[in-house]
Amino acid sequence: MLSNPKTELAALVERRQPGYSLEAPFYVSPDVFQADLDLIFGRHWIFVGVEPDVPEPGDAVVVDIGRNSVVIVRGDDNEVRAFHNVCRHRGARLVLEEKTTVGNLVCRYHSWTYDLEGNLIHAPHMGESFKPSCHGLKPVHLKSLEGLLFICLADEPPADFDDMAKVMAPYIAPHRLRDTKIAYQADLIEPGNWKLTMENNRECYHCAPNHPELTVPLFAYGFGYAPDEMAPEEIEAAKAHDRATEEKHRQWEACGLPSALVEHLDDRVTGFRTMRLMLDGAGESHTMDTTVACRKLLGDITDKAIGGLHFWTQPNSWHHFMSDHIVTFSAIPLDEGRTLVRTKWLVHKDAVEGVDYDLENLTSVWKVTNQQDSDLVGYCQQGAQSPAYAPGPYSPYTEGLVEAFCNWYIGRLRAGLEG
Ligand code: FES
Ligand code: FE
Repeated sequence: MLSNPKTELAALVERRQPGYSLEAPFYVSPDVFQADLDLIFGRHWIFVGVEPDVPEPGDAVVVDIGRNSVVIVRGDDNEVRAFHNVCRHRGARLVLEEKTTVGNLVCRYHSWTYDLEGNLIHAPHMGESFKPSCHGLKPVHLKSLEGLLFICLADEPPADFDDMAKVMAPYIAPHRLRDTKIAYQADLIEPGNWKLTMENNRECYHCAPNHPELTVPLFAYGFGYAPDEMAPEEIEAAKAHDRATEEKHRQWEACGLPSALVEHLDDRVTGFRTMRLMLDGAGESHTMDTTVACRKLLGDITDKAIGGLHFWTQPNSWHHFMSDHIVTFSAIPLDEGRTLVRTKWLVHKDAVEGVDYDLENLTSVWKVTNQQDSDLVGYCQQGAQSPAYAPGPYSPYTEGLVEAFCNWYIGRLRAGLEG
């Protein structure tokens, strides 16, 4: 515990050394964790799910972030809305299941009933002066970016979400996420602080020794390399990969598939990064043989080999869009040493399991990769708890995007503390 949390956190923020991992309290202190919930997860756009979580009116999904529980529900008008999952009578949690389908939202305590737009429509024995219109569910800001659902718990959410959406919509739209279904969801609790989960996600320095499955479809050079340590033929191979990527981008963009790198990880409040990456082998999908896992391609896509579009958002998500399926990931902090990583595999809504896709083939690369990453995050959490831990230097070639994550995080903490 910090003895004077606000002052000590401000001091930690101010003495953060760029290019180095964070000091131990950022990973192990309950006070810093609380600040993360308040200033990061309470004030930014948090990725929580996808429209196919709630495909029909009345479908509801619950997401818990810290002490907040939020219910996301599709209304009869087909709009998706989010509300605090707290009854306006005496505060009982309204929806207990993670996923359910309802006609209205009925509190089981005294039967106060809300419609799918959050209006209180039934509250027996409350007297004539009672105004139901003053007791609707408290709304939570929600935005759908081509079917990716983000919520913001702040009264005034960051306005630059719309700038990100403007850039990203043309990249994501061809994959038609709204016309998919969730083929599988996996919840994994990683034994580490949420920032270790995110830092680990933002580099592939660790991929070669740890991810034999993921490195089948992914090129080693996709996220940087160190030319001064490479043999001439390796440098030539890396340069050839860069040239091939540029050529592929030209081809894909000519076919209406935006592909070029856009990177705003630490220069705006709603940080993000995207790029369509070439895939190895057949170049089609994140599978063990690099060919599509689902025979029905997404949207109007006809070319199987359009690589993998990756999309990262600060502070808590990353996604991969291929021709045949989409994988979405959210990291939700549970406490200073545990993080829920929720992964969803999406396929065309008309695809039939066992006919168009095999679930094991669809999910195997990322299932095993997630577990490998979870183990690595756990090792770092253990290390951060040791008195011997000291921030270590990032590779200038392969960990620049980890630095961008930490820089964004420190900047947003500083803004929150000053505010
Ligand atoms: Fe919900 Fe009473 S607490 S109806
Ligand atoms: Fe990894």
